[in-house]
Amino acid sequence: MRREWEIGKESRMLRTICALFLASLIAFASAVTAQEVRPPEGAQEPRAETGGAQTLEDILARERGQLVEGSFRSDNIGGNIDATQFAPALGPLGVASDSDIWRRLRFDKAQVTLSSDGAAAAPASSVTIQDAGMWWLDFRRGPLATYGGYLLLGTLALLALFLLIRGRIRIDGEKTGRKITRFKAVERFGHWLTAGSFILLGITGLISLFGRMGLIPLIGKEAFAPLAQAGKWVHNNVAWAFMLGLVMIFAMWVIENIPNRHDLKWLAVGGGLFSKNVHPPARKFNAGQKIIFWAVIVLGVSISISGLALLFPFQLPMFAKTFVILNDTGLPQWLGFGALPETLTPHQEMQLAQLWHAIVAFVFMAIILAHIYLGSIGMEGAFDAMGSGEVEEQWAREHHGLWIEELKSEGGTSRATPAE
Ligand code: HEM
Repeated sequence: MRREWEIGKESRMLRTICALFLASLIAFASAVTAQEVRPPEGAQEPRAETGGAQTLEDILARERGQLVEGSFRSDNIGGNIDATQFAPALGPLGVASDSDIWRRLRFDKAQVTLSSDGAAAAPASSVTIQDAGMWWLDFRRGPLATYGGYLLLGTLALLALFLLIRGRIRIDGEKTGRKITRFKAVERFGHWLTAGSFILLGITGLISLFGRMGLIPLIGKEAFAPLAQAGKWVHNNVAWAFMLGLVMIFAMWVIENIPNRHDLKWLAVGGGLFSKNVHPPARKFNAGQKIIFWAVIVLGVSISISGLALLFPFQLPMFAKTFVILNDTGLPQWLGFGALPETLTPHQEMQLAQLWHAIVAFVFMAIILAHIYLGSIGMEGAFDAMGSGEVEEQWAREHHGLWIEELKSEGGTSRATPAE
């Protein structure tokens, strides 16, 4: 049976999502402060003129995002009258008003037994009314789609500007004509498994989110329907390849991505990305690559878990549990968001999983766009590392000087092969 989803839910759910993101140090913050409207002390019954029903002021207060104390509705569910003693023909609910019955259902006070109850009941099958859905829908097609779209377009614009100002980052020194093996075949396989599946997941995910508003007006419903269906099938199945790739790259590269003191020097000069002939020392992975690596791991795990929650509806509720832990740290309260809701209906869990999944996807895609740019048109010689696996020695000297020295001291020069 559904639980009470209090009035003013818009404000509270928005705060919930924002607090979660701030707490995770992923910037996505915007909060609406809710205030509770209570009748003034000593006031007469405030709803006398409506016979106890809600007033225009209640409705307007909710529209302003204020919480309206709702016991006048949740407690107004009629008495436990056994109608049969008065008029047997009317049946058990004959003298209860429709409004009372719906309020009982809405506030989880009706004694309803469903045929699906019991051990075999499907999760959430006993939820008869769920009224948080409209807020979720509005958020999904409103702020989520709008700001997510801006984030991706803004990232593309910034990268274009960077290319315009800085130009392609060239190999500054004289090329040696010698090649060095940077990534083995298995490493490149892990990289392309993750990257390829990520691109497919990104495109099919965006079709799911923007299709109705962006594609149907362009290609029509007849063409969109099979596209959406195919996209969903691809998304649901390619997800497993992405998760496998994630495990592979973590296992292969975690050791070399542990931060060290050289990273500070690298960061201090912006990795030399903004000026010519600046080449801070770096081992196999520089600080910029380490940031990308850890972002991929953290966001990849988060998107996988929330994706699995979507794939197996109602089986993996995790937000209420996470909120309990976050509330215990005091972080949401300290950030001024108040305690996050620790009781969520199964549907709210799903709604949060969907929003979280899509928000993480947008942040993830923006980061990966920058990574794709630097690994292709942005930097001369970089693509070879994942293409053929062999890089120009001078490129390696400029971007991974300490790694080259390590290779040499290990007798690694034998890996160098003359260029064709
Ligand atoms: C890795 C495991 C993943 C799983 C299990 C997964 C699962 C899902 C599922 C079940 C949906 C709902 C699809 C639907 O019913 O239409 C979805 C939506 C979506 N996914 Fe994923 N996904 C994963 C990874 C990703 C990645 C890596 C991205 C981004 C690159 C992504 C972006 C999206 C987007 C944008 C949506 C659309 C949300 C919406 O329609 O509101 N997903 N995902």
